[in-house]
Amino acid sequence: MTTLITGGTVVSATGRTQADVLVDGETIAAVLSPGSTLLGHDLAVGVDRVIDATGKYVVPGGIDAHTHMELPFGGTAASDTFETGTRAAAWGGTTTIVDFAVQRAGERVQDGLAAWHAKAAGQCAVDYSFHQIIGGVDADSLAAMDSLVDEGITSFKLFMAYPGVFYSDDAQILRAMQKSADLGLLTMMHAENGPAIDVLVEQLLAQGKTDPYYHGVARAWQMEAEATHRAIMLGHLTGAPLYVVHVSAKQAVEQLAIARDRGQNVFGETCPQYLYLSLEEHLGAPGFEGAKYVCSTPLRSRAEGHQDHMWQGLRTNDLQMVSTDHCPFCMKGQKELGVGDFSKIPNGIGSVEHRMDLMYQGVVTGEITLERWVEITSTTPARMFGMYGRKGVIAPGADADVVVYDPQGHTSIGLGKTHHMSMDHSAWEGFEIDGHVDVVLSRGSVLVDEAGYHGRPGHGQFVKRGLSQYLI
Ligand code: URP
Ligand code: ZN
Ligand code: ZN
Ligand code: ZN
Repeated sequence: MTTLITGGTVVSATGRTQADVLVDGETIAAVLSPGSTLLGHDLAVGVDRVIDATGKYVVPGGIDAHTHMELPFGGTAASDTFETGTRAAAWGGTTTIVDFAVQRAGERVQDGLAAWHAKAAGQCAVDYSFHQIIGGVDADSLAAMDSLVDEGITSFKLFMAYPGVFYSDDAQILRAMQKSADLGLLTMMHAENGPAIDVLVEQLLAQGKTDPYYHGVARAWQMEAEATHRAIMLGHLTGAPLYVVHVSAKQAVEQLAIARDRGQNVFGETCPQYLYLSLEEHLGAPGFEGAKYVCSTPLRSRAEGHQDHMWQGLRTNDLQMVSTDHCPFCMKGQKELGVGDFSKIPNGIGSVEHRMDLMYQGVVTGEITLERWVEITSTTPARMFGMYGRKGVIAPGADADVVVYDPQGHTSIGLGKTHHMSMDHSAWEGFEIDGHVDVVLSRGSVLVDEAGYHGRPGHGQFVKRGLSQYLI
C-alpha cells in the first residue's frame, strides 16, 4: 500500500516546508518537493491512496510519554484500558504512548513488566512502550534493572511521594541512581516530599478541611521544589541523568534551570493541566466538583503565576516536553471515594486524547511556535526516550506516523460524550481549540480521517527503545 500526502506544510522541530510525503507500507519513503514526478509520471497517479493536505500541517504523530492505562491506584484502577485509552490517543493525533509498568515492594520487577505486557498485548490501537516503576528498591529490584535495557526499557520511575505505596526514601533513591548511572538509564522522578505532605494532610483533615481544594494546600509548592532540588543533588552526586515528571511549580522549574545551567543532565516535563487549570478555579470549584481536578503534583495557584511560568519554561527549554500523565477516574464510584476526605480521591486527570489540540492552542495564542509544538509533543519525547529516527520525525525510513492538522478547523473538547476516553466527565469540557486533527496515520494505516475511526486493537506494537538520545 502506498499513500501520498499532498499539498501540505510539513512541520518539524526545526522548520516548515511545502512538501509531499510518500508512504510505502509502514514507513515514510520520501519527502518530496510539491508536484514531484517519477520518471516523468505524476506521482499521485501511481499511488494507492492520496490524502489532500492542502492548507494543512503535516506533522509527526504525537508521542505521549506519560500514561497510566488500567493503573491500580487509590483503591481503584484507572478507567481507561489499553484498548480504550489508545483509541482515544489515536483520535487526538497521538500515535505512540509510553505507559508505566509497575513493580511494588516485595514483587519481582520481571513480573511487573510481564503483567504490563500482558495487559497491553493485542489491545492497543497505537504503538506503545513502557517505563518501569520501581516501587520497592532492594537488592533484587536493583539486580533486575540489569536486564531492562535488553527488554527495550531504558527509563524507570521512582517516587519521593506516596509513602506506603510507591515511595522510595533517599537511601533507596541513591542506590537506584548509582545503578542507573552505571547502566545509562534515565531516572524519572515524582518529586514531592511525601512524608511531609502526609503530615499536612492529617492536620488539614483534623481541622475539618476535607474538600478537594485542600489536596492542593497539602501538596504545597515547597514540597515539590524541595524534592526537585533533592533529586537534582542526588543525580549530581551519582551522575544519573534525571527527568522530573509532571512539573507544576515555578520554583521547581527554577531548580531545573539552575541545574541545567550547570550542565547537568536534568530534564523536566509538564502537562496540559499545569498550563491551563488552576487551584482557585478548578480544584476550588464548588462542592465536590474539584475532585475532577485532583492529581499529583496538584494544580497550582494562578495568582502565584505558576501556569505562565510553565509556558515560559517550555519556551526557554527549561522544560523540554509535554506529556499528559493520563490517569483517568470516573466521578461515579471512583473520585467519589473521597467525598468527605480529599486524601481518598484517586489522583489523576485524563487528557491523552487532547494533548495535541491543547498544545496547538498554545501556538494560536502565541505562547509557543509551530515548530516548538512539534518538538515538545513528538520530537523531544522520541529523543528523550530513545525512539528518534523511527519516531518523532517525518523523514525517509521513519515509521509513517503522521498527523494532518487543520489550522482552519475547530475542536470543541469534551462537550457531552464527544470525547473517547473511558470517563464520565472531562477536565477539558468546554475548551475550544482553533485547530483540528483531520487525519492520523500509524505505521502507514489510516486510523482517523473525516469519515471517522478506522483503527483496531492490536494494530499497535510494542516499541523496544534505545538509550536516551537527549543527554548532554
Ligand atoms: O495524579 C497522578 N499524577 N496520578 C498518576 C500517578 C502519578 O503520580 O503519576
Ligand atoms: Zn507521579
Ligand atoms: Zn503519572
Ligand atoms: Zn477537519
